[in-house]
Formats: sequence, C-alpha cells, structure tokens
Amino acid sequence: MRPLLRWAGSKRQLLAPLREILPRDDLIYIEPFCGSAALFFDQRPKRAVLADINADLINFYSACKSRPLEVFEISNRLKRTKSEYLDVRKRVSSEKSKLTRAAYFYFLNRNCFNGLYRTNKQGMFNVPFSESRTGRMLSEEEFLAACSALKGARVISCDFERVIEDNLKAEAFFFLDPPYAVKHRQPFTDYNSEAFGQADLRRLLTCLKAIDDAGAKFAITYDASVAERFLLRRAWHQSEITVRRNIAGFADARRNASEILTMNF
Ligand SMILES: C[S@@+](CC[C@H](N)C(=O)[O-])C[C@H]1O[C@@H](n2cnc3c(N)ncnc32)[C@H](O)[C@@H]1O
Repeated sequence: MRPLLRWAGSKRQLLAPLREILPRDDLIYIEPFCGSAALFFDQRPKRAVLADINADLINFYSACKSRPLEVFEISNRLKRTKSEYLDVRKRVSSEKSKLTRAAYFYFLNRNCFNGLYRTNKQGMFNVPFSESRTGRMLSEEEFLAACSALKGARVISCDFERVIEDNLKAEAFFFLDPPYAVKHRQPFTDYNSEAFGQADLRRLLTCLKAIDDAGAKFAITYDASVAERFLLRRAWHQSEITVRRNIAGFADARRNASEILTMNF
C-alpha cells in the first residue's frame, strides 16, 4: 500500500531491505519520526504508534482516522492550479477547523515542491507550488484504504523522547528514521522546529540504550558517516544500505547516500 503523503526523506525506496529485517513476532510497531510512514503503510501492523513533532502532519493523520471521506472530498474539490495552491497556502495556518486544515495539508502536500514541509518565522507553510512531477492524487478507494490502515494506530504529536519513554516495554519494536543532524543549529535563523541538532542525536542515543535495557527491539537508519561512530555498540548489528537521497529537498542535489541500518536484535 502506498503512503498517503509525499515526504522528504521517505523510506519508500528502502522498503525491500527493511521488510527483510522486521521482527516476525507480533510486536507493537512504534515509529517516533513517522513522516509519511512508508514502512507502516507497507506493513500495516495491527498495533502501532505513529508520532512526529510536526503537529500539522499528526492533525492530518488524526482526521484521516476519524473523518477520512470528508478529508478526501474537501481536498479533491480544490483545483490543482498555482493560484488555488497559493490561496490555500495563505489560508491554512489561520484555518480553525481541524478537518479543513487536514484537507488543506493534504492538498498542499500533493502539489508542493518535492513533498517538502517548511514554514517561515511566523509558522506559515512556505513551500512553492510544483508545476510538474507531483504525481496523481490517490483515488477515493486508495485514500480510504490507507486511512483504514491507520485505525489500529495511535497518532501523537510530540518529541521522540516522550513517545519512546512512554513505550519502553518488551513487546515494542521501534523503527527510527530521524532527520540528518545539522552541525550547528542556529537558534535565531533556524525557524524549522524539525531541525535536528547534535544535542538531539545525543538524546537519541540515550533513548536507544533505554530501549535496549527494557528488552525491546529497535532498528534505526542513519547517515553512514555519523552512524558508524555514533551508533556502534558491541551487541548492535550494522549493515550498509544505499539510498537515493534528496539532499535539502532540492532536485539538483539528489545523490546516492550511504545509510547505516543499526539493530539491537
Ligand atoms: C526522515 S523523516 C521520516 C521519514 C519517514 N520514515 C517516511 O517514510 O516518510 C524525519 C521526520 O522526523 C520528524 N522530526 C524531526 N525532529 C523530531 C523530533 N525531535 N521528534 C519527533 N519527530 C521529529 C520530522 O518532522 C520528519 O517527519
């Protein structure tokens, strides 16, 4: 099953190697950096927790769980033109109805440049319209089927540390796909709440140790140059995977990047 959204850094191209490593036992699937949750939609686990710091993303999933047909109908009523896109983009952050906001989120995601999510200083979505290559909108049948896969999932908007701490139990499997860390986070110029810094990486490593200590399982994919020195622990297994990565979201910066998959099982 295809995910509902386009998303920068989506794991869609890596589904084949990821399917191989998934634990066979009936564990609770937890994805703390879910984005478009490509692996979740591919696997459709019965029990799942999807979390992300992006509140608009989680509002969309939440509306898809409770009112899928309305999200589909409202978003499909909008015209896929630049002027309609710019109008919706202007209105989305002041929209009071969570349902309408979710439908706008979907419409913008389907028509924006490279499936990026970026906001300005005032928290307003500012990704340009894409004239081409955004792909077709999902049919009603595909959309509703993907929404029904969300029925067994709890969706939460929070920082990764909280969702990990709240689910430290032996029957949990954590799939972690954090953003690449930036060297120096600039608090005054970096408005992006999803930006990931060195301190976040250190918090993440502490979380991985806690997952391991709780007897739970994890698999994490990460930039090879960082993962090698950061994540190597004696009892953790590492393998290299190559991914065509859309660096910084710009097409001309696409290249093959090496990622390391680290697992504690
Ligand atoms: C590489 S993307 C995940 C892509 C996902 N695997 C997919 O298939 O689409 C990383 C995600 O981490 C989220 N994120 C960034 N910082 C976070 C934080 N501190 N806690 C939780 N999520 C965060 C971003 O909003 C983004 O959706």
